[in-house]
Amino acid sequence: MLERTLSLVKPDGVGKRLIGEVIRRFEQAGLKVVALKMLRMTKEEAKGFYIVHKDKPFYDSLTDFMSSGPIVAMVLEGEGAIAKCREIMGATDYRQAAEGTIRRDFATDIEKNVVHGSDSPESATREIAYFFSELDIVHY
Ligand code: CMP
Repeated sequence: MLERTLSLVKPDGVGKRLIGEVIRRFEQAGLKVVALKMLRMTKEEAKGFYIVHKDKPFYDSLTDFMSSGPIVAMVLEGEGAIAKCREIMGATDYRQAAEGTIRRDFATDIEKNVVHGSDSPESATREIAYFFSELDIVHY
């Protein structure tokens, strides 16, 4: 199914100069970038983005981290884009991520894991709308 998903290069990924590497891997796997921007979230914006994790012990630390520096937000489009993006990223915990995945190759921490990708069609819809309006999405 043709899907859209939201991916973020997190502050650690931007700091490690991995923006191009992350996008290259997505494009090489056949995903198409249909919206893209760089921004820095406030603590409140990060809390809103990760609201589903509000009761987790890592919520405060995660939202501090996600508002600590610039991120790159993008919408990826393609067949099975949600699963494909997650496959390319690897498991949340880089120690469990498969070889050749972004997190296995570049993450050093369960929290500072370089990238984010939506985990379901429902979260993709919500997360895309968090950063982009329908007018920001290009068709080509
Ligand atoms: P992400 O895919 O963006 O979704 C939630 C984020 O919370 C996750 O990546 C990590 O950055 C962070 N995270 C998940 N589990 C933990 C954990 N056990 N400890 C700290 N951070 C976590």
